[in-house]
Amino acid sequence: MPLSPESQKRIDREVAKYPPAGKQSAVIAALAIAQDQYGWVSTPVIEEVASYLDLPPIAVQEVATFYNMFDVKPVGRFKISVCTNLPCALSGGECAGDYLKGKLGVEFGQTSSDGRVTLIEGECMGACGDAPVMLVNNKRMCSFMSQAKIDALLDELK
Ligand code: FES
Repeated sequence: MPLSPESQKRIDREVAKYPPAGKQSAVIAALAIAQDQYGWVSTPVIEEVASYLDLPPIAVQEVATFYNMFDVKPVGRFKISVCTNLPCALSGGECAGDYLKGKLGVEFGQTSSDGRVTLIEGECMGACGDAPVMLVNNKRMCSFMSQAKIDALLDELK
């Protein structure tokens, strides 16, 4: 699973932020870039990142399986993580998750039948006062997600 020239260029920019002997420190950024390219990080992708950074594959695998922003199995085109930790759960997070489950016809950890959205039960995103909160594709934070805002979000993620 080769890294595209664009991915390599992006990883090189991350590697340049560290001393020459420390290029392995870019492993999280490199995995995120590889995931942007492939949608998820399969074992061959992990091996490619390891090779690019001169790391043993197991070291990259450990990082990929530790952080929940990395997907080690296929996901939909969009991934919505809903925070259901206690502060959010008490402020509508669980209801928002249930609403999304109903709209998408899935449980947490599943992908809608059209392959469009994977729904994830997320951990605290550091925005407890904005509940219900959701993160789209690990990058876009959505706050105060009422049912109307969830409907609008799903309409947008086509
Ligand atoms: S508990 Fe949900 S963002 Fe902190």
